[in-house]
This record gives sequence, structure tokens and C-alpha cells, in this order.
Amino acid sequence: MYLRHLSLMDFRSYPTAEVELQPGITTFVGLNGQGKTNLVEAAGYLASLSSHRVAQDAPLVRAGASQAIIRAAVVREGREQVVELEINPGRANRARLGRAPLTRPRDILGALRTVLFAPEDLALVKGDPSERRAFLDQLLIARQPRWAGARSDYDKILKQRNALLKSAMPLLRKGTRRRVDRDPQEVEAALHTLDVWNSHLAEVGSSLVYARLRLLHDLSPYLSKAYDEVSAGRGAAQATYRSSLYDEMATRIAGGEVPEQDALREATLETFAQVREQEVERGITLVGPHRDDLLLQLGDLPAKGYASHGESWSFALGLRIAAFQLLRTDLGTDPVLVLDDVFAELDAGRRERLAAMVEDAEQVLVTAAVADDVPPALTGRTFHVTLGSVSREPA
Ligand SMILES: Nc1ncnc2c1ncn2[C@@H]1O[C@H](COP(=O)(O)OP(=O)(O)O)[C@@H](O)[C@H]1O
Ligand SMILES: [Mg+2]
Repeated sequence: MYLRHLSLMDFRSYPTAEVELQPGITTFVGLNGQGKTNLVEAAGYLASLSSHRVAQDAPLVRAGASQAIIRAAVVREGREQVVELEINPGRANRARLGRAPLTRPRDILGALRTVLFAPEDLALVKGDPSERRAFLDQLLIARQPRWAGARSDYDKILKQRNALLKSAMPLLRKGTRRRVDRDPQEVEAALHTLDVWNSHLAEVGSSLVYARLRLLHDLSPYLSKAYDEVSAGRGAAQATYRSSLYDEMATRIAGGEVPEQDALREATLETFAQVREQEVERGITLVGPHRDDLLLQLGDLPAKGYASHGESWSFALGLRIAAFQLLRTDLGTDPVLVLDDVFAELDAGRRERLAAMVEDAEQVLVTAAVADDVPPALTGRTFHVTLGSVSREPA
């Protein structure tokens, strides 16, 4: 698929912007701070309802404005569709597909697919587990948008279970310094409620873990191949799932097994039973997909803490390229590939190899401060970005 037109209103630094695009390669060139990333961030947001730079919506709306609008004409196999999103910080966002308003913004997921690679992706290798969980879940949703619903259900149930743990803590906690007389009936009721939340959370959580494991299983061959290609064959890059479930199940998963969802649910309930005291003590849920991680390894060593800067970059790039190739195979159409300001960070060899890997993608949007950093094979049509204006002519 490709973006034929991108239109912004009060998004980031743009009062308005209208950009006419084509399939193939397009490069946005301009000095730092002029609005190149803002443009591609808008495309990424429309595709995933999340930004690669901020967790909150407020910074996406131009300072002084109350809402931002991103509108795009997306062409897939010759059919064009208009996709529109209104970002209203503090209120519900609104989405439209064609002319039709959608009940929930997340119903536009799937209308545009992007894979975006940016300097922030170094955090996939060097950052917290939350970065890697987000990578998996976003790819899951890009592949099958219905997972957005399960993801948001899980977050809601988790919040409620944590609230319960916090409120029931004084009732359930043993060995507190002050002597508290606990009403046995109240304790019984609190434990019963906890059990109910356990089964909800185990149900949705295990379906999410199962989906992540299937995804990782499908992604892995692309990952090692992409890493080898980017780094010219000095590879053995692999990703294994680190589960917060108790020992036996976590070991099976680390060994690459994808257990049945029922087995995962049972293991979740068993682990809940084992960690109950700790959870009550701390007032948070210690088991489930929100506590899991992805272990990235180069050969036998973890990438985090061991890989060089260049290797870490190649790993992050390998993950994104693998995601692109998996989606290409699965969807039967290419997602729009965005390379935001990445060439300045890569050495000449990696630049050339990356260019060779992606030049056949249906549409590639590249941003760069220095045009010469982009390999000639990827230069394509050039737009010049200056202070929030995007034009085909140099300023
Ligand atoms: N919500 C906003 N309102 C107004 N300006 C913004 C907003 N968010 C970012 N900017 C401005 O956008 C510019 C950064 O644009 P960006 O696309 O990141 O630049 P680059 O061309 O280096 O990629 C900065 O000057 C910043 O102040
Ligand atoms: Mg930028």
C-alpha cells in the first residue's frame, strides 16, 4: 500500500500541510528542527494510534490549538480510501474511514500500515522491557488489528486487579507491625474477589501471551536473516520470550515452545497462587504479559550491555526490517516503510546494505538532515522541509 496524500492540521509544528506522495522512494530533507519527523510521525500515528516519540497526545497538537487532524489518502491494490483522525487531548479522539465516522478510533487500525525505524529504536535493545513489549504488541496489532481490543481489555482488568490488591492489602497482609484485627468474613470476601479477577486476567493475559509467542515464532527467521544482511553476515541474532510465569512454563517458553493457550492460562493461575503473598505485600500484579520481556541475543551474549553501538543499531534495524518482511508476507501488500533520520547514524556499509534491502518496497519515506547521507539508490523524489513548510523546491 502507499500514501497518495497526507494532510495535516495543527499537528505538531504545522498549522497546515498538504503533501502529494507517490509510490517508490520519497526523501524529506531539511535542517534539524524544521519538521521532517513531525510529518512521518503523523503517518505513523494514523497507522498505529501511537507516536514513536511521545506517550501522550498533547505534544502532537500544535501549541495554542485545541485539536490536530491527520488525513491521508491510502491506496491499496489500486483502491483509494481516505482515513482521518482527530486528536483531542483530554477528550476522545475521533476517526473516520471514507466518509463514515467510526465508533472507536481503534477501528481505523489496519487501514494504513507503516513500519517506522527511527533513532528512538535504539531503546529496543538498550532500554527497558516495556520498549520490547510495545514492539511486540504494536506488531501484533499491525498484523491483526483485533488485538488492540484484547490489549486494552487487559490493561483495564490489570488496573482493577491492582486497585483491589491495594485496597485489600490491609485485610490480607500478615505480620504488619501494628496489630490489626481482621474480620474473617471480610478477608474471605476479599480473597474471593481476588480469585475472580485472577481468572479474568489469566484468560485475557494468556491469550495475549499466546499471540505474542506465535508472532515471535513467525518473526524469528526474518530477524536472523535481516540482522545478517544489515551487518554483512556477522550474526546469530535471536529473540527469546522471557515469561513471568513460574519456572517450568517459563523454561519451556524460553526454549522456543509455543504452549497451548489453556496451558498458559493454567500456569498463570498457578503462578498467581505462588506469588499471592508478595502481591498482597506490594499491592501490584507480578505475573502476566505486562511483566514479560524479550531477550535479545547475539550469539550467546545478551545484546543489552554487551553489543557495541553499531551492533545495537543493526539489531534494532533488524527487528524493524523483520517486522516489515513479516507484514509484507502476511498481508500480501507492503506496509509503508518510514526511515526517520537513520542514515546519519549508520556507517557507509550499513547504509548501502539497508538501501539494497528496502529499495523494492512499495513506498519508502526517508528523512535526513543531510541529503548526502542517503545512499543514491534511496534518494528518490525530494521534498525540502523548512520551518513547517514542505515543498518540492529548495528554499
Ligand atoms: N505541539 C507542537 N507545537 C508547535 N511546535 C512543535 C510542537 N511539537 C514540536 N514542535 C516543533 O517542531 C520542531 C521539531 O520538528 P521535527 O519534525 O522533530 O524536526 P526534524 O526536522 O529535525 O525532524 C521543533 O522546532 C519543535 O519545537
Ligand atoms: Mg527528526
